[in-house]
Amino acid sequence: MVNTKVSLCGLELENPVIPASGTFGYGEEFAELYDINILGSFSFKGTTKEPRFGNPTPRIAECSAGMLNSVGLQNPGIEAVCADILPKMKRYFKKPVIANIGGFSLEEYVYCCQKADQADNVGLIELNISCPNVHGGGMSFGTSPASAAEVTAAVKKVCKKPIFVKLSPNVADIAAVAKACEDAGADGIALINTLLGMRIDLRRRTPVLANKKGGFSGDAIFPVALRMVYDVYEAVKIPVIGMGGVSSAEDVIEMMMAGATAVEIGAANLVNPFVCKEILAELPEKAAELGIAKIADIIGVAH
Ligand code: FUM
Repeated sequence: MVNTKVSLCGLELENPVIPASGTFGYGEEFAELYDINILGSFSFKGTTKEPRFGNPTPRIAECSAGMLNSVGLQNPGIEAVCADILPKMKRYFKKPVIANIGGFSLEEYVYCCQKADQADNVGLIELNISCPNVHGGGMSFGTSPASAAEVTAAVKKVCKKPIFVKLSPNVADIAAVAKACEDAGADGIALINTLLGMRIDLRRRTPVLANKKGGFSGDAIFPVALRMVYDVYEAVKIPVIGMGGVSSAEDVIEMMMAGATAVEIGAANLVNPFVCKEILAELPEKAAELGIAKIADIIGVAH
């Protein structure tokens, strides 16, 4: 019997498998498909202070081995999430959830994180400073160590729950950004968000996405994400949540060997809504095949 338990700054998870923000909504639709209480947790849709309709369409483009999205942080706003969605979530998800918080200013991040921190079914906060699809916020906070540190420190002052800063791969040195967040008080690092990309419609001779550029995710980014998780694990002492192109139990194990304590599954949920359930069914068997009795023992073993 393989022990699949992992711990994220005191948040005990039955297993390391976590659907990633933006691919699982607030969990309700997936709870109609299977009992989502089998998951370690899930990260809910990036939530901002004001409700957001998102970017104009088209905002999805297919690519080989992945996809581009420019959703633009569509969400009902933090007040609705805290007043309606989180209380309702308790009916179908009995575990602490991960609150993914986006923002357009320091004040907005602070406001939303403080709200999420007060919700009893939020286990930890994923401070999303890496959304590539909005202007004047999101990724602009995550592309320099100084601004990443500033927002981390501001949020840490008002929150009691662990803050995991979700980083952008669209930087020269992600380990430097991670280290700056750690020095500013972050409890953990989550990485990677999507890679900025684009497609052009050959007949129309214009970008496929209405927003022109979008975030690339899916199988193709797995080796990039793995390398970045490996680099960040070497740079910091705080726990790392790894994500980017993960779609199988083997990928989860590989991410953990690179240094992830828990692993998020993103774009694969959009291709196969049962992928996390399938990964969870396969994980103990794959681990046993590889001689792993306790999954937490493999965190960072590749170093
Ligand atoms: O466009 C989006 O909603 C994407 C969010 C993110 O990458 O964090």
